[in-house]
Amino acid sequence: MTTTEHNPTAVGSGQNATASFARKERQAGPVDHERAGAIIGDALAALHEVVRRHQVTYAEYDALKGWLIDVGRTGEWPLFLDVFLEHVVEQVANADRKGAVGTIEGPYYIPGAPEFAAEADVPRRADEPGTPLLFEGTVTDLDGNPLDGALVELWHADDAGYYSQFAPGIPEWNLRAQIRTGEDGHYAFRTIQPAPYQIPTDGAVGAMVATAGWHPWRPAHLHLKVTAPGRAPVTTQLYFAGGEYVADDVAQAVKPELILHPTKSDSGEGNHVTYDFPLDPAE
Ligand code: DHB
Ligand code: FE
Repeated sequence: MTTTEHNPTAVGSGQNATASFARKERQAGPVDHERAGAIIGDALAALHEVVRRHQVTYAEYDALKGWLIDVGRTGEWPLFLDVFLEHVVEQVANADRKGAVGTIEGPYYIPGAPEFAAEADVPRRADEPGTPLLFEGTVTDLDGNPLDGALVELWHADDAGYYSQFAPGIPEWNLRAQIRTGEDGHYAFRTIQPAPYQIPTDGAVGAMVATAGWHPWRPAHLHLKVTAPGRAPVTTQLYFAGGEYVADDVAQAVKPELILHPTKSDSGEGNHVTYDFPLDPAE
């Protein structure tokens, strides 16, 4: 299958996301069979209840089987799960946090982006389209003391809504960077504002969204992961006030604390915004 920068496919994005997940360092522990049995049993019982409530037919059951097979064949499981399930897993995982608010990671994080000290000119093409954005702030503890040696990882879509390493024709580390803070805990990224992101509409997940009569859009967002010695890491996203789909995210990952209010830069070129990350202590 051939693709161009302007024509990423569900198969392309899905298979790249599946390959990326296969490389991921996953947390693993011993299997607790009692807990596994309870979760698996309840998940199946929830589906049984849907079949009864809606009197699901054999035609609909076969449609489901075919759809599940297609999602796997095109590698779209990471896309599907991160859009439709991860937001609840994240809410459960981070319910007790007092500091910086988290949200879903999504399928497009890659560790090991180009690293900068305190200030990053985020890798981008010479003619990278989009409104310039200076995004800066401070990583602190819960009392506001700056954290030395924190790592702030940033990744986001381009002005067409595409991510490097997942859509074709984009340089490897485009719009991906990480900053190691100094004693003042400060970070500053020079980048461009991303566009809203659309779930690929040509695959099984897009077909499900269309069949349900929903829209396939996420609001424009910056992805971040912030880690520091002795602190609980946070994975989050930041959105732009007044942006399309902020109030209607297909992935239900927007929270009021995550909405940025950029202002015009003093230089007159592009926008400027600050955002701080107070990190909870490690558990
Ligand atoms: C998906 C894509 C994203 O960019 C994101 O932030 C969350 C989910 C997805 O396609 O699954
Ligand atoms: Fe995203």
